[in-house]
Amino acid sequence: MKTPQDATATQILAELSEIRRTVTEIKRLEEDRILEEGLFQTLEYGSQMGIFVVQDGKFRFVNKHIENHWGYTLEEFIDRDALSIVHPEDRERVRESAVRMLKGQRSSPFAFRGLAKNGAIRWVTETVASVPYRGRRAVLANYMDITEQIESQKKLAELEALEASILEAMPNAVVGLQNRRVIFANDGVETVFGWSARDLIGKNTRIFYRSDKDYEDVAKLLYTIMEKQRTVSFEYPCRHKDGRDMECAVSAARIGQDLKDKSIVVIFEDITERKQAKNELEQSREQLRKLTAHLQSVREKERTLIARELHDELGQLLTALNTEIVLLSKKIPPEHSALIERTKGMTNLIDMTMQTLKRIYMSLRPGMLDHLGLTVSVGWQADEFEKRTGIPCRIKVDPEDMALDPDLATALFRIFQETLTNIARHAGATRVNARLKATDKKVLLVVKDNGRGITSEQYQKPHSFGLLGIRERVAYWGGEVKITGEKGKGTAVHVSIPLKQKGTLP
Ligand SMILES: Nc1ncnc2c1ncn2[C@@H]1O[C@H](COP(=O)(O)OP(=O)(O)OP(=O)(O)O)[C@@H](O)[C@H]1O
Ligand SMILES: [Mg+2]
Repeated sequence: MKTPQDATATQILAELSEIRRTVTEIKRLEEDRILEEGLFQTLEYGSQMGIFVVQDGKFRFVNKHIENHWGYTLEEFIDRDALSIVHPEDRERVRESAVRMLKGQRSSPFAFRGLAKNGAIRWVTETVASVPYRGRRAVLANYMDITEQIESQKKLAELEALEASILEAMPNAVVGLQNRRVIFANDGVETVFGWSARDLIGKNTRIFYRSDKDYEDVAKLLYTIMEKQRTVSFEYPCRHKDGRDMECAVSAARIGQDLKDKSIVVIFEDITERKQAKNELEQSREQLRKLTAHLQSVREKERTLIARELHDELGQLLTALNTEIVLLSKKIPPEHSALIERTKGMTNLIDMTMQTLKRIYMSLRPGMLDHLGLTVSVGWQADEFEKRTGIPCRIKVDPEDMALDPDLATALFRIFQETLTNIARHAGATRVNARLKATDKKVLLVVKDNGRGITSEQYQKPHSFGLLGIRERVAYWGGEVKITGEKGKGTAVHVSIPLKQKGTLP
């Protein structure tokens, strides 16, 4: 049986346990409160998301993030119309989406454009929920800024569109390869190779080449070079879908930093016609050069012939005539002194004719070039120049007895003649220094004047043939010519012609 004391003890125990429970409950509530407060603090101050409460369409609470994000102060926010920070064009949509979400008809966040205080557009994505706030229903919303994401998506789309237009506009074939298989191709592949881009995806590019060997060689070339460098370009024979051979300029670049996956882009440009035109141009230039050389040699031969005729035929005749007149004058009796005088006059005239004749045939073809060689001929030409123009012309020849191919000697002599003619006509010089030097390997001709100096425009004059003739002659002999002018200081013509070594092929 229980005594009253027992009953009291039981009651006390029950109360104690009740107290303990209450204390535990209070503790838990306190902990919850601390937690909630922390949570609230975090949401209010530390969150990277915008959190706000709207009631009656007005902001009632906004966290710190929102203030920073939109540029309004807390005071400006509270009681402000919530839709005022939404772009006018998006307001209706935002309202509808929010209502649907509150009704549970929509669960995914909705994106819209917001307007910051400074007018900047910020893209955000938002979710809303219904909550009690100060005793009444309110809307709790949170959002995240996705402006950068949207911008970069837009940029990416723009870049992709740009890339597509570039690829479309390109007349060249562009193919992307991965492990030697085509992963993309532009419409240019049809223009260049006749294959449609669709046909190529997943295939290898063997069909662009003439043979398996070509295909392997190109691959080897491409991948070996691109191990070391990012890009490579070269010309290579290719094959069109219709079977015709073509010449392509191939350029390739690896995608990314290294050749992992063997990802590369290759561009093929059909240069068949260009190359043909270039070859034809080169051929016709070569022909023209040969023709010029031929005409020059024909001209030289004709001149030589005429000079020889003048010298041998007319010269002989004049000499004979002279001898006859001398003989005749000896037969005239001394008392006919007037007649003797006439014959003297006649021999003088013949002398003068011979002088003139000599000048003519020497200028046509300095006979000494054949007989006495280049050294004497250039010396004679320099003297003639000096006599004619009064401009001192010094020429140094080294070695004195240079033995050159007669045609080369003629070319050098004509070059020398043309430079002296140019100096007389254009330079306004008072002195000319020339040098002719031959070594085992080359022959050099340098002519310098101290005149006004040739300009680069004059050097390129289209209708002047003197310098062109010099360049052509030098090119024929595989040499180089350099013509330089310095204003007021003079002009220098440097000609250098390689000499073929005895016993070696040209
Ligand atoms: N020594 C020089 N000093 C200054 N100008 C020069 C000299 N040599 C050539 N020129 C300039 O270079 C131009 C081209 O020379 P080039 O010999 O090709 O033609 P040209 O003498 O005018 O005519 P041609 O076809 O009869 O020779 C000359 O017109 C002249 O203006
Ligand atoms: Mg000239």
